[in-house]
Amino acid sequence: MPYLTPAQIESFQTNGYLIIPDFIDAETIKAMKAGASEILDALTLEELKIFTTENQSDVLDHYFLESAEKVRCFFEEEAFDENGDLKTEKHLAINKIGHALHDRIPVFEEYSYQAKFLALAQDLGLSQPQIVQSQYIFKQAKIGAKVNPHTDSTFIYTTPYSCLGAWVALEAASVENGCLSFIPGSHKKYPLQEQYIRNAEGTGTTFVKTSAERVEWPVEELIPVEVPAGTLVLLSGEVIHASSANRSERSRQSYILHLVDAQCEWSAQNWLQRPPDSPFRDMRMVVSQH
Ligand code: FE2
Repeated sequence: MPYLTPAQIESFQTNGYLIIPDFIDAETIKAMKAGASEILDALTLEELKIFTTENQSDVLDHYFLESAEKVRCFFEEEAFDENGDLKTEKHLAINKIGHALHDRIPVFEEYSYQAKFLALAQDLGLSQPQIVQSQYIFKQAKIGAKVNPHTDSTFIYTTPYSCLGAWVALEAASVENGCLSFIPGSHKKYPLQEQYIRNAEGTGTTFVKTSAERVEWPVEELIPVEVPAGTLVLLSGEVIHASSANRSERSRQSYILHLVDAQCEWSAQNWLQRPPDSPFRDMRMVVSQH
């Protein structure tokens, strides 16, 4: 059964993103927020210390790379004082939780492996959809960091490109609290500029150029997408998007999945690699078992 209308598919193909109002209800939002809060409640001081100890970049790199198959917490840069102590309590200092919530935490698994996600991924041309990462983004009031213009296929690289983002607003998103913004049609205009990969030693990450042609993106063409809580925004892996810092009094929480087509080749250089005993799951199988 298709989920998207032909007009919605055409709009996605033209603009590189698509807004779907009322994708989830208030009860689902409440359950997802509670799920994130529980993860933070369980975060130990020892784990938090990873962020507060100086000169620990190798430890942080390891913590990040392991998050491909785990549930890890990452904090706002502005959350720590000069002594490396949190300025506020951890629930108000967290930047995001990633990257395997969909495979590790029941409330997120239930949301992520819904039949309607499988259907809309297939509607958009993914023949064998797999969820490869999930992130709970907090975008805290006052200290929520900006996200510079980028494309998601830079981070989730397949041949041919197949990355599809599915971002859902758990709180209202506006210009004031750092909503997403897009350059409509940019997914078809510019060659992918770079790929974010594991370094040769496998111990950290780096960017490499993927195009000889350097393009100055017209960032003045970014259009803000203000949405109420419960709205889903689908985005192509090649569309240029960004979000500004949140200096407002309201947080802007969201949950984002990234899917790929397992028929496409997963880059062995991607930062995100699953160990052999914890592979990506075939969405068709998981959804049929739910
Ligand atoms: Fe992105």
